[in-house]
Amino acid sequence: MSNHQPIIRVEDLTKTYGSGETAVRALDELSVEVQTGEFVAVMGPSGCGKSTLLNMLGALDQPTEGKVWVAGEDLSKLKNVDQFRAKTVGFVFQLHNLLPTMTAQENIEVPLQGQIGSRKERRERAAHLLELVGLGDRSHHLPGQLSGGQRQRVAIARSLANSPALVLADEPSGALDSQSSEEIMALLAQLNESQGTSIVVVTHDRRVAQATQRVLRMQDGKIVSDHRITDPIEEDLRMFAQSQFGQSLLANNPSLEKFIQERDIATLRHLLQAYDDQAASPEDAGSS
Ligand SMILES: Nc1ncnc2c1ncn2[C@@H]1O[C@H](COP(=O)(O)OP(=O)(O)O)[C@@H](O)[C@H]1O
Ligand SMILES: [Mg+2]
Repeated sequence: MSNHQPIIRVEDLTKTYGSGETAVRALDELSVEVQTGEFVAVMGPSGCGKSTLLNMLGALDQPTEGKVWVAGEDLSKLKNVDQFRAKTVGFVFQLHNLLPTMTAQENIEVPLQGQIGSRKERRERAAHLLELVGLGDRSHHLPGQLSGGQRQRVAIARSLANSPALVLADEPSGALDSQSSEEIMALLAQLNESQGTSIVVVTHDRRVAQATQRVLRMQDGKIVSDHRITDPIEEDLRMFAQSQFGQSLLANNPSLEKFIQERDIATLRHLLQAYDDQAASPEDAGSS
């Protein structure tokens, strides 16, 4: 497989749920490409189609119209959908979905069954993955004996079990406190770099999105902006200046222009914190 081939290619993808008057157009002729090795965030208000898009990318559901290729495969022509789901993509959900009666290690071994030969090999692979996510010493713990962040690490290790080319994570840190949330994103960033795994992560959290390299913003089933993150400070400044809060502050207080020009990140972070604290809803704070 060539490295220049996009890991994801989506063309005019439309998904309609239901029919007639109650039909919901969750995706509306959406097109996008993600290159192999990219780490991409998908943001946007609740109901804009983020989960629907991820489900299409993972062949969990079928498009109404349009085409999806993942790792060069046309998903409408998959001969073995189960094999695709097991080997080419790994999923991480907001709620970890670990089996409660199995240990961390056993949970990771589940997707390896039927993929890797011997029990011993599976055990070694699972142990290696637990090391990779920093939980080498928790292999015999049950999910109930782990913290939320640790459970999500196990879920990430499980998603990597069969060395997928692509990991799809739907609000993986949505149920975590902000510190665990940052740790999970740092882990995904590290895996993206060390394993070369392409990652698409849905998040509501602007700070979480900043761990990625590229942010796609969705609205009403379409991608309304697509930009690369080059400099986190610049990114913070841009998000701030675009936010309602930032704009009203700038309008009321022209001297703020100065710290933006001077890249006064300490002041900016302080203001952003105030913004996050006052935000009434958990919705995407950066959209304008
Ligand atoms: N299985 C379904 N049946 C009917 N409508 C659905 C279904 N799944 C999602 N929708 C609708 O499709 C739209 C997009 O949903 P979703 O992709 O879950 O949005 P997001 O993940 O961005 O919050 C919403 O209006 C939602 O109510
Ligand atoms: Mg969703």
